[in-house]
Amino acid sequence: MAAAAADFIVAQAEKAKGAGRFSLALAGGTTPLAAYRLLGRPPRADRMPWPRLHLFWSDERCVAMSHPESNAGAALAALGPPQALPRGNIHPIPATLGPRPGAEAYERGLRAFFGPVEAPTFDLVLLGLGPDGHTASIFPGSPALDVMDRWVLGVPAPAHLEPRVARVTLALAAINAAWTVLFLVSGPAKADAVRKILSPSFDAAKTLPAARVKPQGDLAWFLDRDAARGLEERP
Ligand code: 6PG
Repeated sequence: MAAAAADFIVAQAEKAKGAGRFSLALAGGTTPLAAYRLLGRPPRADRMPWPRLHLFWSDERCVAMSHPESNAGAALAALGPPQALPRGNIHPIPATLGPRPGAEAYERGLRAFFGPVEAPTFDLVLLGLGPDGHTASIFPGSPALDVMDRWVLGVPAPAHLEPRVARVTLALAAINAAWTVLFLVSGPAKADAVRKILSPSFDAAKTLPAARVKPQGDLAWFLDRDAARGLEERP
């Protein structure tokens, strides 16, 4: 799955060759790290348009980048990052400012990057999935689910899952403005949430935040066998 995901990212970046830049928001958590490692090394790294690439994050924990729970710290350690990626093109979430000021600062940065638009049109947003159906740091029952006029939100520490630290997350309005969203999901713990979200007969959007991800462009799910276990065989 990591290789398929890395190849997908390369293909998306190559497709956007004509455009001046390629904006990629990385998912947090541990699942995507293997894909980031592959992406940052030959042969895939040789095909990536690093000088045109701008790296963002879908969410971040309110810890220093050097902290083991930092999404940006873990992703950059896995990625490399290649010398050809200008350091000014790496836009980590300033989550050490705290959830609310960090969200406001990141939103200002996104508005400066994307300009006067309704919402940030990332070329590609990567997302993970929690067993409870959360994605980025949008948790079930969170007020963040109903916020449509903000691009970035501060989130208090979740009481139900580790790490129990405050977060900064892209809001659904920002995620759904993306041209393409790719979910990377692995392991049996996610199988039930995957089954509900991808089942046409279950209205998952009521309870599972990831079910509300409906980008204006393409939505792809990359699952390993364990995470896909609950899906009935499709012809
Ligand atoms: C975070 C992530 C979160 C993550 C899922 C899956 O900051 O925790 O953004 O949404 O993607 O919880 O995490 P794993 O890949 O570690 O299972």
